[in-house]
Amino acid sequence: MVAAQADTRRQYTEADYTDFAHTGPGTLAGRFMRTFWQPVCCSQDLPPGRARPLHIMSEDFTLYRGESGKPHIVEFRCAHRGTQLSIGWVEGDCIRCAYHGWMYDDSGQCVEQPAEADSYAKRVRIESYPTEEYLGVIFGYFGEGEAPPLPRYPDFEEEGVLEVSTYVRNYNFFQSLENGGDYVHTAFAHGKRLRTPDGRWDIPELWLVESEWGRTETLRFPDGDEHLAQYGMPNIHNHPNGVRLTHDLRKRIDAELGRPLWKNMLAWRAVPIDDFSHRSFAVDLIRLTGDLADLYREYRAQSMVKQRHDAYDVGERVLAGDLTFDEVDTSSVALVNVGDYSTQRGQGLIADRTHERLGRSDVGVTLLRELWSREMRALAEGRPLKQWVRPPHLVPAEGHHERAGM
Ligand code: FES
Ligand SMILES: [Fe+2]
Repeated sequence: MVAAQADTRRQYTEADYTDFAHTGPGTLAGRFMRTFWQPVCCSQDLPPGRARPLHIMSEDFTLYRGESGKPHIVEFRCAHRGTQLSIGWVEGDCIRCAYHGWMYDDSGQCVEQPAEADSYAKRVRIESYPTEEYLGVIFGYFGEGEAPPLPRYPDFEEEGVLEVSTYVRNYNFFQSLENGGDYVHTAFAHGKRLRTPDGRWDIPELWLVESEWGRTETLRFPDGDEHLAQYGMPNIHNHPNGVRLTHDLRKRIDAELGRPLWKNMLAWRAVPIDDFSHRSFAVDLIRLTGDLADLYREYRAQSMVKQRHDAYDVGERVLAGDLTFDEVDTSSVALVNVGDYSTQRGQGLIADRTHERLGRSDVGVTLLRELWSREMRALAEGRPLKQWVRPPHLVPAEGHHERAGM
């Protein structure tokens, strides 16, 4: 954590307070992001005894799960001659380097060097980082000083089907984050030009306020449908959503429940891999139990098979001019995702925010930037940061919301 200590001595300029895109060591936005726990991997993607490289905010680490089942994060390279530790072997809760067999425990302490005298290992240590697992996601903390407690979401611990998913996109993370506060895009960027039956554009009115957690958004669409969304600093979206189902399955589930099915979504959109790519994580709780839960799981397994194409591949073809939104085969990929990908990647690898022409409807984007900028300035000046919390009144209420895929 040498780099993080050096950061605190750096002098920042006005330009740094609005540079949200760069999150590597030494950047202000990066230091701000590192004051929060970040998701690093879906639990299902890291079985016991496995290690993988972890790239986050332009830094490299080793993520592994001990044979005990506990996940750990240590430095990327072995202290001996610097090879990539993740290609080694997990033994108990230790990791052994593949090059000359040095072994480190989960605190990063070297505990064995097969070709050296016993006394040497004690003097060798690599960095380790706080790691926790919750709701099917592994989280890491990469900030300065002691890690705060990992935030909990009790409403996601309730009964139901918990779905955890992740995807990678090859453009800057802040574009994805801004998109979450952009409610005009849903009428266009999801690949259609949506109008209400009386011919108006399907664009909601929007009310925004800063909350204890980040930002509360109330949307009212022209047909009267209301949608409430919560945004949690620095990169979390939380809102109820409709659930994609076949017509018949929806009818059956709604009839048995006696109300429309909904899900609650918690999404980290997004976590920088580096300045030109990011990863998104989502945890969805679908409130079904028993037979209905089994039915839903079966349907999901089938519908996942049908989604043969990734939005990335199809979106790239749209960007290249080889395909239009109207020509996308929606039986094999969700048009919403293709549209979101193409429009955000279409802003460039890192969007140029100096030449924008923002309007009244961009208030979600401007509030996001204001919150970030205010906190980044406080961090640079050594003032206390706002302690963001999610009290019960910010938990989205159950309701019927058809407009999926913000
Ligand atoms: S490089 Fe790891 S043991 Fe030599
Ligand atoms: Fe979208």
